Amino acid sequence: MRAASESGIKIPRLCATDSLKSFGSCRICLVEIEGRRGFPASCTTTVEAGMQVNTQSDEIGKLRRNVMELYISDHPLGLSDVPD
Ligand code: FES
Repeated sequence: MRAASESGIKIPRLCATDSLKSFGSCRICLVEIEGRRGFPASCTTTVEAGMQVNTQSDEIGKLRRNVMELYISDHPLGLSDVPD
């Protein structure tokens, strides 16, 4: 996440902050990394030389939306305020 940020690439986040050690709780910052299975949290993944990271795709967007829907499913405002 930090390497992406320093390269001008924004990755959504909820639980990551510069004032705390990353703990990968919210999963909103998930990304795809070529050659790896799953969708790791970018805030807890250590960057490596040559790493190919995809920060946006239809699948990533769908996963982030699903995670967000879970968080707000119990919120008084409900899902009607979630943009598509
Ligand atoms: S920002 Fe919450 S898990 Fe990465």
